[in-house]
Amino acid sequence: MTSPIERSLVLVKPDAVRRGLLGEIISRFERKGLAIEAIELRTMDASLADQHYADHVDKAFYPPLKEFMTSGPLAALVLSGDQVIEVVRAMIGSTDGRKAAAGTIRGDFSLSNRENLVHASDSPESAARELALWFPKL
Ligand code: PPS
Repeated sequence: MTSPIERSLVLVKPDAVRRGLLGEIISRFERKGLAIEAIELRTMDASLADQHYADHVDKAFYPPLKEFMTSGPLAALVLSGDQVIEVVRAMIGSTDGRKAAAGTIRGDFSLSNRENLVHASDSPESAARELALWFPKL
């Protein structure tokens, strides 16, 4: 029996949209062979931010993170493919753009751990939760 194709929730963050990197980032996912099942330009409101970052709302870095994530439009994507969650996490690189490996999206284009261009689900459990939050009808 073949395993079901995995899905991941990916947010191309407001800094990427402002910097004109949306096409570059989406193109990398396409060239990798991942499928775009849904894509929407949206502005995160405070309530969605609190739900999306439920694990981080009590952390010291959350207020500036929330301000940044609600500061302008972002692109929300549902990507699918074989082991897409792990594949996309490898493609975006580690959280801090200053430390992310060259060749990753953050390693190539970010110098920050807040304005780090992309969010991607980090496990099947977080993907299920985030997909239900962003694309409840999918
Ligand atoms: S943790 O605590 O290890 O789980 O956090 P981490 O996975 O590294 O980061 C979770 C998200 O918080 C953002 N982040 C920050 N934002 C603002 N300021 C600071 N200092 C900061 N540190 C981490 C980080 O970009 C992660 O965002 P997402 O959207 O999940 O990639």
